[in-house]
This record gives sequence, C-alpha cells and structure tokens, in this order.
Amino acid sequence: MINKITTAIAHPNIALIKYWGDLDVDLHIPVNSSISMNLDGLFTRTTVTYSSEITRDDLFIDGQPASEIAQKRVEYFLDRFRKIYKISGYFQIESASNFPINAGIASSASAFAALSLAVTDACGLSLSEADLSRLARLGSGSACRSIPGGFVEWQAGYNHESSFAFLIASPSHWCLVDCIAIVDTEEKETSSRQGHELAQSSPLQQARIMNADQRLDECRFAIMSRDFDLLARVVELDSNMMHAVMMTSNPPLLYWKPATISIMKSVIEWRMAGIPVCYTVDAGANVHVLCEAENSGAILNQLKEIPGVLLVLEAGPGGAATLEIRN
Ligand code: DP6
Repeated sequence: MINKITTAIAHPNIALIKYWGDLDVDLHIPVNSSISMNLDGLFTRTTVTYSSEITRDDLFIDGQPASEIAQKRVEYFLDRFRKIYKISGYFQIESASNFPINAGIASSASAFAALSLAVTDACGLSLSEADLSRLARLGSGSACRSIPGGFVEWQAGYNHESSFAFLIASPSHWCLVDCIAIVDTEEKETSSRQGHELAQSSPLQQARIMNADQRLDECRFAIMSRDFDLLARVVELDSNMMHAVMMTSNPPLLYWKPATISIMKSVIEWRMAGIPVCYTVDAGANVHVLCEAENSGAILNQLKEIPGVLLVLEAGPGGAATLEIRN
C-alpha cells in the first residue's frame, strides 16, 4: 500500500519582464521570455497525500473544498503529471497562501510550484530543477519561475522541453524590495488565462513581442550590474507595454482602479525628486513598487498615505521552492 504525505513551500514572483500571450495555449509556451523576482515572506504551503485508499483527486484551499474551477484546473494538471511520469492513483491536496489570492500577486504561480514539488516527492520522484519548472508551467505559466530561487529567467522556448526557468542571480545578489500596494482583494473578472488568449487581438501585441528580447537583455544586465536606473526604465516600460496590449485587446481589458493610477503617478514624482523607485503591475490593480532596501521604509510609509491603498506588503528576493522537512 502506498501512503506518503509531503509538504512543499513556494513563493509567488513578480514579473519584471512580463509573460503575456502564448505560442501554445495548452502547454503555456509563451510568445516571449520573461524575468521575475521571487517574493520572500509570501508563500503557498501545499500538503499532498498520496495513498492507495484515495479514489479521486481532492483539493482544499485554506481548509475549504476548492471551487469547481480550481478543482478542475488541478485535476487537469494532475492528469498530465500522471501521464508524463506514468503514475497511477489519486491525491488529496491541502493548500494555503499567506497573501490575498487572485489579486495580481500570482497566487497560481506559488500554488502550482508548491504542488509540483509536493506531488513529485509524494510519488518518490526526484526531478531536476528544470524538469520541475517544466511541470509547474503546465499548471500556470508563471509557476515555472517560482521553482528556482532569487532572480529568475524563463526561457520561452518552442516546446515542452525547451521552455523552463532558471536562476540568473541568487536572492542575496541584490537587496531589492517589492513594496506591494494592495488596492483590491477581489477576484479579478478576467483571469490571466483569458487575458493570454486575448493578447493576440491587440494591434500592439506584435510590437510588444518584437522588442521583448531587447528589454529582457537590458533587465538581465540591470540585475547583474545592480543598475537601478536601468532596471526602473525597462521594468516600467515593459509593464506599460503589457497594459497597453491589455487595453487594446478585443474585448479590452482594464485591470486598474483609480488608486492604481494615483500610485503610478506618485512613483514617477518620487523618482523625479531623486528617489530611485519604479512600479510594475501584473494582471490586477495592485501596484508593485520596487526600490533598494535603504529606501523601502520611507516608500512604504508614503504608499500607506495614498487614498485607496488598503494595505502595503513588503518582500525582498525569495528563495527556491522547497520541501518542508518533517521531524
Ligand atoms: C501578468 O502565469 O498567471 O502576471 O498560465 O494562465 O496561469 P496562467 O497565467 P499566469 O500569467 C501571468 C501574467 C502576468 C505576467 C507574468 O507574471 O509574467
């Protein structure tokens, strides 16, 4: 009789160069490569039970049975996992995150990264980091970037084998801080998945893709040389380009709230006043305000003063997805 219980923890990540649009929708092969930073202190913790007594996959989120959509998404992922690794049997999954889900902090990234690690370990498989990243990508594209630690690049590739993420700099390389201004904790109306599928309907998507590699090179260089000014320029440009694509899709997508714009404008003013700071926004209304550790205290305080800001979270570069050791 098989019976194994495994727990894994993974951090969400903030995209510095964004993934928006797929070459292959089912495999989540993106149209462009991307770069992200894992977010320390924020995590999803997932426990997987693999037992011959379990007769169906069951997902619980924060102790409650998951919604039908989440349950189906995880079942689909597990079916692919079983097929690739020739595994039989079912799993009970308990997952909990310590940050608001569905609010542009990529909870699906940490959730599928933690699930990939936990489920492979529960089955006695020990995958390479690249293989875990490939597997996590099947659950959620950006989840492949939550497998390695620190600053991570997802090489777009063109098929399952060639599309995975790897570390470009460890968490200790640069004390960047992501001050996350939460302005909305509701589930977004249009999921990232629907958004990826709409991307190609924007007349701006081809232009965005055409010079994505140049922004990727600049971002990687800015990280490696700890050049904040260069990072700020390319990160804001890339975020603005993705949102321009969203707004010009058919039907158009506008994830921002009035407070999103207030924060972006304040960040630009602070930078013009000489403070090294920039913003980036994923598929949601919350704003990720990036700065170096020496400036984070003042920026956190100023963000809290902006009307519409409900809460500000703070995260430095986080580590890789890890197994929780049981005593
Ligand atoms: C705007 O990885 O969440 O955050 O594959 O459908 O789960 P799915 O999409 P997802 O898309 C992320 C979009 C983004 C940009 C990014 O993280 O690169």
